[in-house]
Amino acid sequence: MVVQQNISLKPYNTFSIDANAKFFCEINSIDDLAQVLQLDEYPEKLIIGGGSNILITNDINALVLYINIKGVEIVEEDENHVTLKINAGENWHQIVLWAIDHDYGGLENMSLIPGNIGTAPIQNIGAYGVELKDTFISCEAMEIATQQLVKFTKKACQFGYRDSHFKNAGKGKYVITSVNLKLTKKNHMLNTSYGAIETELEKQSIKTPTIKSISNAVIAIRQSKLPDPAKLGNSGSFFKNPVVSQSQFDTFTKNNLNAPFYKISEESYKIPAGWLIEKCGFKGKRYGDAGVHKNQALVLVNYGNASGQDILDLANTIIKKVQQEFKITIAPEVNIIK
Ligand code: EPU
Repeated sequence: MVVQQNISLKPYNTFSIDANAKFFCEINSIDDLAQVLQLDEYPEKLIIGGGSNILITNDINALVLYINIKGVEIVEEDENHVTLKINAGENWHQIVLWAIDHDYGGLENMSLIPGNIGTAPIQNIGAYGVELKDTFISCEAMEIATQQLVKFTKKACQFGYRDSHFKNAGKGKYVITSVNLKLTKKNHMLNTSYGAIETELEKQSIKTPTIKSISNAVIAIRQSKLPDPAKLGNSGSFFKNPVVSQSQFDTFTKNNLNAPFYKISEESYKIPAGWLIEKCGFKGKRYGDAGVHKNQALVLVNYGNASGQDILDLANTIIKKVQQEFKITIAPEVNIIK
């Protein structure tokens, strides 16, 4: 465990923002983590995993802890299910592929989501009709103040849409060190209800889908719509889809007859922010090196040398315009680090 100084964070955030960390430490084990958290010379700490859900807007004066604890083990198994304990530093998509290779089902709809296992619970990652919470059993986290390992059950994590305890009361208090997921070994519950998956399977003439073919379909859809962070800096959806009340929804649909929406409860509706942003004319637009992706308006991109502040300025311009046009407030999904 070595604390380095003045390290560029460019390789550690998928937006490829070139900001410096005053202090930086790669964490490869629980012991490393406990040791570094005990050092009193760095009172401020910033924890990063895959760096796929952050926008760094300035150089970081704190100690950046890059969580790179690897390893997967089976902790429980019967005829039908397997429970895996996956350490925080494992790459999410590599684990999805590993699970599919072993014919373990449940993660296939979440193929190709960038980021690491340890950050997945923070925003309850999800895609194509499935969320992390659907296979999640528990996670282990180190309390920063005491270096104690704490177990969080699914209930304790308080998962919501792109939300959890770790974004609310638990914010800044824990480092997630591992996640336990329960997957199926047979009779997989295939979820093809999301329109784009059905269309993609038809396109590939697949009549009896498997977890592998669903994963391939999701990969094809994502590759057609979402930019690859290795080629074009981005953090996936920059904004959350706003949830509106019945009365807001009534006014909105009266004025926008063809707008897509999802009913999420008796009195609330989710409106795709991508649609709102596109209607405001931002899709595919570029302002210096900051831009809005041409195939999915929910994704902001860095064409090369945008600063975090450039991206944030664009995000704020978009929020203002959507508010003016639709009287709907959209909010960032990514963590903005100031
Ligand atoms: N739409 C537009 N214009 C756009 C983008 C979308 O009109 O530029 C419309 C689409 O036509 C569609 C609707 O908006 O009617 C929904 O679009 P899409 O299916 O692409 O999904 P989304 O709601 O924009 C969410 C997640 C994505 C996830 C997809 C698929 C959030 C914030 N985003 O996007 O997650 O991959 O559904 O499940 O919930 C991420 O979190 O980083 C992410 C990429």
